[in-house]
Amino acid sequence: EKGNYRHFMQKEIHEQPIVVAQTLQSYLRPLEQKVALPDMDFSFADVPRITIVACGTSFYAGMVAKYWLERFARVPVELDIASEFRYRAPVLEKGGMALFISQSGETADTLAALRHARSEGQKIAVVVNVPTSSMAREADLLLPTHAGPEIGVASTKAFTCQLAVLAALATKVARDKGVLTEAEEREIVGHLTEAPAAMNAALGQDEAIEAIVPLVAKARDVLYLGRGPDYPMALEGALKLKEISYIHAEGYAAGEMKHGPIALIDENVPVIVIAPSGPLFEKTVSNMHEVQARGGQVLLISDGPGLAEAGDVVARIEMPTVHPLIAPLVYAVPVQLLAYHVAVAKGTDVDQPRNLAKSVTVE
Ligand code: M6R
Repeated sequence: EKGNYRHFMQKEIHEQPIVVAQTLQSYLRPLEQKVALPDMDFSFADVPRITIVACGTSFYAGMVAKYWLERFARVPVELDIASEFRYRAPVLEKGGMALFISQSGETADTLAALRHARSEGQKIAVVVNVPTSSMAREADLLLPTHAGPEIGVASTKAFTCQLAVLAALATKVARDKGVLTEAEEREIVGHLTEAPAAMNAALGQDEAIEAIVPLVAKARDVLYLGRGPDYPMALEGALKLKEISYIHAEGYAAGEMKHGPIALIDENVPVIVIAPSGPLFEKTVSNMHEVQARGGQVLLISDGPGLAEAGDVVARIEMPTVHPLIAPLVYAVPVQLLAYHVAVAKGTDVDQPRNLAKSVTVE
């Protein structure tokens, strides 16, 4: 039931701090400050390569996971969209692990990719929200998200719960590979534990986000820019906006702008820049200045230090200052809220957008 919310999507956005905390609870041991995964019959120490396959929003969670697995666990990661993976004769190394990410556990392309990977001798790990689904049944290592039923066709809480599980997974792989000290693991667990409160603070910006709706709702095209693990947030923001508001939106890696999309910029194109302060901040800000120099309207989502440093922008949304590890979980929230409020302003069917199905069980 929707309770006091107008739409399931709105309810599911607001549930995120709770369901992410629930999900983390089953993967973190707070007293020992360690990550704990379900029992498994193989060790990550022996896994030479991880292949991640998913569709849509779940694929973007996989992009963030690739970043974490490479950075923390130093394991090579291959990442593909399920519909492409199936047909490109992927070379799967002996002893490798294939990781499938899905809310429903029934997406036809992802399930077929899973079966293909199994036939090629891969260990099958699955991050899935529906525990009775086909993918859950076919996993060697089942990593459930505890988001509860997701009704809105646009995925929100399943996505951030996937990120929570994937962060725990990356940490465990790093430990098994011997590239993470106990102190570093404690630190990661500490940051992950802070995620629900930080997401709550992000939700506190709901009204500020509603206030910028007029800048976006009138646009024909919207660009989202981000770097590093926030690049998938740009893609996710654009997907959410197009799914439910039917406004054309694209996410780009900020540094890729000048290789083409900058030609689209004029005063009618809002550019949503997702840039927490941190190691990549200045680079993204210089891309932002390139946009502004061409008359682009920048809406900046950053934290206090970032906003103070960035200079003038058309609109600013302030996130709490968080460790870069949990930034994707936090910055997912404002892009979901923005898409939601723009769709409400446009009067679309938020929970059942046209042409889309919750679970895509055909190719
Ligand atoms: O159930 P799955 O996670 O496998 O679904 C994958 C995509 O179909 C799904 O994420 C889709 O892109 C959503 N509509 C995104 O909001």
